[in-house]
Amino acid sequence: MKLLVINGPNLNMLGIREPDIYGKETYASLLEYIGDICEEKGIEVDFFQSNHEGAIVDRIQQAYKKEDAIVINPAAYTHTSIAIPDAIKAVGIPAVEVHLSDISKREAYRQISYVSDVAVKTIYGKGFEGYKEAIEYLEKSL
Ligand code: DQA
Repeated sequence: MKLLVINGPNLNMLGIREPDIYGKETYASLLEYIGDICEEKGIEVDFFQSNHEGAIVDRIQQAYKKEDAIVINPAAYTHTSIAIPDAIKAVGIPAVEVHLSDISKREAYRQISYVSDVAVKTIYGKGFEGYKEAIEYLEKSL
């Protein structure tokens, strides 16, 4: 399986950014965590992080016929973007949506996700573990 892991805006600031909500671990340690899981499972993984909505749309489009599955934390674009779910639908690649924090218990505007409509599964509130669960889910369903 070829897996694409996308992280949206401000997730490159993990460890610095609101550690009480997102934890003290850095973005680099998240990549190491996911990389180790994929290595163990023999999954080929590519990482992409951007603070720009269009760049995320471009990366999803590039995955067409090249990658088998997507794990995406669209971060703040979860609650505002229609272009990102449109791109996921366009390429027809199964995508699991992940959030580190429990968005269901936060501000009202975080409880709206346009990406959930197109994701095969949504996982939230489990920190780094959520990414692991997403990979396991995709592994089983592919
Ligand atoms: C987040 C939740 C979003 O509401 C927020 O804008 C983020 C991160 C999470 O991982 O919990 O940037 O997606």
